[in-house]
Amino acid sequence: MSSREPKWLRDAVFYEIYPQSFLDTNADGIGDFEGIIRKLDYIKELGCNAIWLNPCFESPFGDAGYDVSDYYKAAPRYGTNEDLRRLFDEAHNRDMHVLLDLVPGHTSTEHKWFKKSLSPYRNEYTDRYVWTDSVWEEPQGMGCIRGISDRDGSCAVNFFSHQPALNYGFYRPQRPWQQPMDAEGPKATLEELKNIMRFWLGMGCDGFRVDMAGSLVKLDEESRGTIALWQNVREFLDKEFPLAAMVSEWGEPDKSLEGGFHMDFLLHFGPSHYNDLFRCEEPFFSDRGKGDVSEFVNKYVENYNKSQRKGLICIPSGNHDMDRLARSIKGENLKIAFAFLLSMPGAPFIYYGDEIGMRYVEGLHSVEGGYGRTGSRSPMQWDDSTNAGFSCAPKEMLYIKQDESGDRPTAKEQMEKDDSLRSEIKRLIAVRRSSEALGNMGEIEFVYAEKNSYPLAYLRTSGDEKVLVVINPSSVEAGFECELETAGCLYSLGGELKRENGRIVAMPNSACFYRVK
Ligand code: NOJ
Repeated sequence: MSSREPKWLRDAVFYEIYPQSFLDTNADGIGDFEGIIRKLDYIKELGCNAIWLNPCFESPFGDAGYDVSDYYKAAPRYGTNEDLRRLFDEAHNRDMHVLLDLVPGHTSTEHKWFKKSLSPYRNEYTDRYVWTDSVWEEPQGMGCIRGISDRDGSCAVNFFSHQPALNYGFYRPQRPWQQPMDAEGPKATLEELKNIMRFWLGMGCDGFRVDMAGSLVKLDEESRGTIALWQNVREFLDKEFPLAAMVSEWGEPDKSLEGGFHMDFLLHFGPSHYNDLFRCEEPFFSDRGKGDVSEFVNKYVENYNKSQRKGLICIPSGNHDMDRLARSIKGENLKIAFAFLLSMPGAPFIYYGDEIGMRYVEGLHSVEGGYGRTGSRSPMQWDDSTNAGFSCAPKEMLYIKQDESGDRPTAKEQMEKDDSLRSEIKRLIAVRRSSEALGNMGEIEFVYAEKNSYPLAYLRTSGDEKVLVVINPSSVEAGFECELETAGCLYSLGGELKRENGRIVAMPNSACFYRVK
């Protein structure tokens, strides 16, 4: 990263907050900005110094806020714009940073732009969304809204059918209604997006996690148009907010980083093989795992080589769209999974509650477009008081039902115990911070990552500093041939490494970081 870029990303460890479910301070059953402010010290104490806040703007909440109806206004249920500004200030006072969630691809059907674009009479918003020019023509492969007004056309949707697609143009227009990227409508949409960013950056936010960042320009198979669009945004940021951090939900780091993002996520969709590690029947990080980490590593290395030095690849512990990590990985293996997550390059992202092993709540009805994701969005479990300290509202009013099991984990109990998951994560973050090689910018080279075999070993380096990471989630000892000469042990869980005639052997269920000479 160059000197004009946000230096704080170099040692950022993120904590993702789903605001609905974090802490309710006004007893309405739903979390709020004040709740987040009160828990900043908790987040900092864990070792996280940055926050990604899921969408918190005015919305009918048909998709948990990813259906914005006013980009310039905080959702009243969380507080006011001034409360949000206070959250930025309070975070900054603690040397922490906050990314807002920017949803550039679509709005809610409740947005005033969409309402105006429904009119059959030409107006400022006629071209704000992707409309065909006849109600009988559907935009191919996109799904659409049609027959709900007198405008003769069908409006493309980006995700759910209440999320009309904003119009950034088509890379290779084929039909008369498909506007090129440099037509007036698409240009105006892009300028408005910059205005939204200007507004919140001016208020003190530190950047954005960008929703579906790769989806903006249509008929753009190679993403050349979308990359160019984000490069245009980068130019604007370089001029006006050079320190703004940009993280994309794209899943193709080479493209995203070329577009000027600082970081991209590897996620549970696309060809990442992320699920092989954490979320499949036999994940690598479980006792029953078959141990095939190789496809993930091959894909990772391919992405890493393509994107090297342009930016970072981030592997989150989970997020509001996937099953809780603790649904498929249990006990000590959760600690081992975090030893991996917190020793990889790129900024780590911890989804709220994952630090205490919060469970996926089974059997819930969908809340706010969550469907199967609802069980991963249940209210945080702080302590053993009413509603686990999340809210003083009557239980029936809680945003989502909580985990009701008698042994549900809580932050309080885990902070008191030295052998808890949270205490382990806190130690891991501290070790990461103590070594440049283990940090976000350190390089990585895989030493042992074979098909159907344990352990996983990789070397992290920064300048002359080298750290060997060996991770063995299986229930038996596992070794590999290795010439590297290890020096001091920086971290070990489940027992230190053994050396046996040119081999390194890892204990069952263990994770170790060693300095290398
Ligand atoms: C990705 C978000 O993470 C997800 O929660 C949302 O439903 C879709 N994008 C649509 O915005």
